[in-house]
Amino acid sequence: MSSPTFSSPATIFMFFCFFFINLPFSNSLLKSPLINATARRAPRQLSVNYYAKSCPQVESLVGSVTSNMFKEAPASGPATIRLFFHDCFVEGCDGSILISSKAGSKELAEKDAEDNKDIAKEAFEGINKAKAIVESKCPGVVSCADILAIATRNFVHLVGGPYYEVKKGRWDGKLSKASRVHQNLPQSNSTVDQLLKLFSSKGLTSEDLVVLSGAHTIGFAHCKQFVNRIYNYKGTKKPDPYMDPSVTDLESY
Ligand code: HEM
Repeated sequence: MSSPTFSSPATIFMFFCFFFINLPFSNSLLKSPLINATARRAPRQLSVNYYAKSCPQVESLVGSVTSNMFKEAPASGPATIRLFFHDCFVEGCDGSILISSKAGSKELAEKDAEDNKDIAKEAFEGINKAKAIVESKCPGVVSCADILAIATRNFVHLVGGPYYEVKKGRWDGKLSKASRVHQNLPQSNSTVDQLLKLFSSKGLTSEDLVVLSGAHTIGFAHCKQFVNRIYNYKGTKKPDPYMDPSVTDLESY
């Protein structure tokens, strides 16, 4: 394969799709005890036509929801893409980020972890709506993990990226632990070495890290994620010297 160019959001998203489609099968993830618990169910071979007989309309059903969501709440696009990423990096793309915490349980579910609290609620709402419609036509057939993968692809396309086929057949994970989230996700103050180590632990390369970071072409970040780097880097009351001055020089705005 020739060397990829990263000149357009379309290219970035193509790589994004490729990696997350393959991520559930990376060796490093399969070694995890939590994944092994899920894998005790008969393994499934993912395929584009997985639901051809059992739910042939799954793509159009999910598509009707994502198109509406994008019109009514465009923020659901980037939020869903981030939701999928945060699902995939914590024990694989198994939909476990969608599971709610059990009332009275000591252990919160992934979605209630601090790192997931800022994912816009529209992302969860969209997946819930899509699941409800799919269930009404094909009860008990399509996994939430597949619905999240299809919806993410739809939003990638809706925000201007390419359309690609989604392989389906993922099992839904049954374990969802908030305590597994933080160490499996990158942080806004992670160093490059830390990011490389984390991505490498998921079977991803430095090139993957660069390409996937291109997902930030869209969406927003809360002020708390970067305000120190502008006003008070490491207690200096000055901006982070490594940041482009055109970003930190607020007088130029
Ligand atoms: C490489 C390391 C990464 C770091 C350090 C990182 C960090 C962040 C942070 C701090 C935010 C802002 C969250 C907020 O304030 O609510 C954010 C947003 C976002 N991230 Fe990442 N992220 C990384 C990788 C990725 C990847 C691999 C994807 C998907 C392929 C992704 C997709 C997104 C999207 C779409 C948003 C915008 C969400 C929205 O507008 O609702 N990120 N990320």
